[in-house]
Amino acid sequence: MYKIKSILVLLLCSTLVFAGIRGKLIGDRVAVFYPVNFDSIGNLPSLAFEKEPVPIGSIPKDWKFIPTFYTSGKETVATFPVGKGVSLYGTGEITGTLLRNGKSIDLWNTDTPGYQRADGNRLYHSHPWVLGVREDGTSFGIIADNTWKQKLMLNDSIRFVSEGPAFRVVVIERSTPQEVVMALTDLVGKIDLPPLWSLGYQQCRWSYEPDSRAKEIADGFISRKIPCDVIWFDIDYMDKFKIFTFDKAKFPDPKGMNNYLHERGMKGVWMIDPGVKLEKGYPVYDEGEKQDNFVKNVTRKDFVGPVWPGDCVFPDFTIPRARAWWAGLYKDFMANGVDGVWNDMNDPSVFKVKTTTMPENNIHRGGGGLPEGNHLRYHNVYGMLMVRATREGILNANPDKRPFVLSRSGYLGSQRYGATWTGDNLAIVEHMKMSIPMSLNLGLSGQAFNGPDIGGFAQNTSPDLFAQWMAMGVFFPFTRGHACQGTNDKEPWAFGPEVEKTCRTAINRRYRLMPYIYTLFHEAATTGMPVMRPTFFADITDMSLRTVDENFLLGDNLLIIPKWAKNSPIPKGNWRVVSINGEESKYDQFQADVLQKEGTIVPVGNLIQSTATYSTDSLTLLVSLNGSGKATGVLYEDANDGFGYKKGEYALWSFNAETKANVVSITITQTAGKYKPKNKLFKIKVISDSKVIESNWLTGNSLKVKI
Ligand code: GLC
Repeated sequence: MYKIKSILVLLLCSTLVFAGIRGKLIGDRVAVFYPVNFDSIGNLPSLAFEKEPVPIGSIPKDWKFIPTFYTSGKETVATFPVGKGVSLYGTGEITGTLLRNGKSIDLWNTDTPGYQRADGNRLYHSHPWVLGVREDGTSFGIIADNTWKQKLMLNDSIRFVSEGPAFRVVVIERSTPQEVVMALTDLVGKIDLPPLWSLGYQQCRWSYEPDSRAKEIADGFISRKIPCDVIWFDIDYMDKFKIFTFDKAKFPDPKGMNNYLHERGMKGVWMIDPGVKLEKGYPVYDEGEKQDNFVKNVTRKDFVGPVWPGDCVFPDFTIPRARAWWAGLYKDFMANGVDGVWNDMNDPSVFKVKTTTMPENNIHRGGGGLPEGNHLRYHNVYGMLMVRATREGILNANPDKRPFVLSRSGYLGSQRYGATWTGDNLAIVEHMKMSIPMSLNLGLSGQAFNGPDIGGFAQNTSPDLFAQWMAMGVFFPFTRGHACQGTNDKEPWAFGPEVEKTCRTAINRRYRLMPYIYTLFHEAATTGMPVMRPTFFADITDMSLRTVDENFLLGDNLLIIPKWAKNSPIPKGNWRVVSINGEESKYDQFQADVLQKEGTIVPVGNLIQSTATYSTDSLTLLVSLNGSGKATGVLYEDANDGFGYKKGEYALWSFNAETKANVVSITITQTAGKYKPKNKLFKIKVISDSKVIESNWLTGNSLKVKI
């Protein structure tokens, strides 16, 4: 009886509201739908979209996928039916399997050590976004353009249940999931091409102190010939955890520290949290206070809450003046030779309260077209707006360098401002395995530049787990080892010679694949395609691949299978195991198998200690021929940093292999860019089922190898 009643109510609501739904086309097979009671002041301007979508016409008559909007008590809802056999993905970084069907997700950014709150269904990011893939591979995407606290329920319907006012939704219809993800990023933005150094291996730990310890770590990589690009500086460097200060005893000379790294071909990334210690006489507090830049409580006094330094106030990043002030703080900071910035705790995290964040009735004053609103509205974009200001600041300080910011918290579209990592995981097998679907779904939600704390952040890591994690983690877009203070040492050499060897091999594999990886980042920055892709992308109609989350694709051409993977189907076609740096993964207990797709060419670089000596002057081309003896590949190259590439200072190459009478001919053509690098040397490795034929170093645009 109850069921019939609720169906009736729902039907009534849907018919009533259906009649009043307003919809407009805002692009080719992209539509926006508004409920009758849409609250524009409560939702606009959109913080997800790069720019306000412009209507281009009416919804076509045959458009089937239409939302139902209704209001129930204090909640506003948008729902869509889910057809049979539809696989759901996206929804940001929450824990669990790759497939999101059946999930109920809290979109409320939360500091969640060990992913323990709300059963892992609420993490540091909010992505009101679902990607749906039908049985035939045709796909759709739904964006709820809504920053308010909400739930996303994925059962027999897709349901956004918001605590805010009535909101609009955008629907994307495409023939493939890849096209949906690209269309998403056309709306909410793509990553900017990062500096090459940020794609190298990076070493972090909460408790690298004093500076001599950080130097020792940097030297440890060099003396052991383990490549590394970045040493990270956690809160330990600050004077009593006050942001934009340095502890005089432990880090007396930050410039000298960064120089030390630079002289060794490395970079330094330093942490800045949002909480400003409430302390008169501390210049950051005094100036922020003078300009009235902090978030207010409901009585319109500065909200005060404890974080690392004790009682803090929090910049209100919705205020343009506050963002400009925040950006300005980076001028002197970056002048210390700081290369990149790590924005943490920006969920925002507040200690000693059950909610772990600010009260929902705190006030953000907005400005520049953004209306004043409470924390319930602006909580989920706090981190994103912070990173936006940070990025502006470091770009102003170093206008000729590509900015690098890593943020813990984010919202749909925050890839426009920085990269992310998946927060405080645990050093347990389950979290290592889960890092694959977490990173994949972040990529499917528009954030291509992400990765976990390799080795696990909290708790001691066992040698075996560390080796497994590193062997796999080097193929993630963002590759950083990190550890919580008080845990065992987690550098690649901390677990004895065997694990050290495993780490060296794994990290070398990443560095040798750098030309391929950098090319993928260029693709992500240009098209929005993720760097790390779900295996089902290789065959979108093969239903058996839809749930695969124990292996993944790096680009389209390489399939990565961790050694621990048990349920690891391979897409149809000939995928051949390849050796990147002489290793034989088949006989190795830890090294992931790397399988190359038939018909592809993967460019591989030389062994290097860091990207400071990266060069594409000599490349090995891994050529895996298809049944017709053909293969193709691409390479992107530029100055590795700076913005010359935006003015055409880059080269895009295409490689084409054909086989006739047992001779493979490879044609090399520059297809775009005005960058003219010197003549390259190529070593060709033709990989077939039975053997690998390796050429000498060759040069020219047309290379021949006898097989
Ligand atoms: C948070 C971060 C972690 C960092 C720690 C200390 O827990 O997520 O990465 O090490 O704070 O700053």
